[in-house]
Amino acid sequence: MSNLVIPAERAARHGGPDFFKGGAKFAETFEIWGGLSSKDTVLDIGCGPGRMAIGIGERFNWENDLIGFDVIKIDADICRNVISSQHPNFKFVHVNAWNGHYNPAGTIQPYEVEFPALDNSIDFAFATSVFTHMYKREAGHYLKECYRVLKAGGRLFSTWFSITDATSQSKHARLKFSHALHDGSFTDFPDRPEEVIGFKYEDITDLFQSSGFKSVTFFQGDWSKTADRSTVRHGQDVFICTK
Ligand SMILES: C[S@@+](CC[C@H](N)C(=O)[O-])C[C@H]1O[C@@H](n2cnc3c(N)ncnc32)[C@H](O)[C@@H]1O
Repeated sequence: MSNLVIPAERAARHGGPDFFKGGAKFAETFEIWGGLSSKDTVLDIGCGPGRMAIGIGERFNWENDLIGFDVIKIDADICRNVISSQHPNFKFVHVNAWNGHYNPAGTIQPYEVEFPALDNSIDFAFATSVFTHMYKREAGHYLKECYRVLKAGGRLFSTWFSITDATSQSKHARLKFSHALHDGSFTDFPDRPEEVIGFKYEDITDLFQSSGFKSVTFFQGDWSKTADRSTVRHGQDVFICTK
């Protein structure tokens, strides 16, 4: 368990009592599914109040840089104040991009965001529960930015709600994605779509391909209750792709 103190109100939005446990479990998955190692330079896209960064800092004897960014200023500030004091090579940036759910006053269009990282500088990028709040245009742009900043052979670990015939027919699925949006994505909340957005599986793989990624590996999550329970590790679906 971490000795870092994240304000309870912010942690409550990211697992509450399981905030640290969730980060630790993802850090383990980054290593076993995504090959993350302490020699990697890492980009944490949509870092929130640092759940994943803390998990990574505690799992590995970290030697390299981690850059995190988020559209919520208070979360980027918390990460900088709390996490960077213990891990000085972890840097956190506020990017004031619009998101109807998380940052409705944002002044930058999400499909115009430039990631705070240089071309070909990142070994491992991840976005956990971030593409699940984005429309297709911005998701496509973020994937192109991922491609730009990753080194050749670098990996992107991302989570999505990936919709198939099986998930749509599942009686026990946690989300139904019954409302189609203007761009071919789906939500359960047409009056506040950015709260949860899913895409058809083929649309996600098309987005990866048109962003330049050739190799994509899929691990189904538990949200739809259609995954093999013996291998599932997380609620959302995981796509890992390599530049
Ligand atoms: C469900 S939270 C997940 C936070 C963190 N990745 C985690 O797993 O603990 C979604 C995060 O995505 C951020 N977000 C939404 N739109 C974004 C964007 N365009 N760029 C970066 N972050 C964004 C939100 O502010 C929020 O912190």
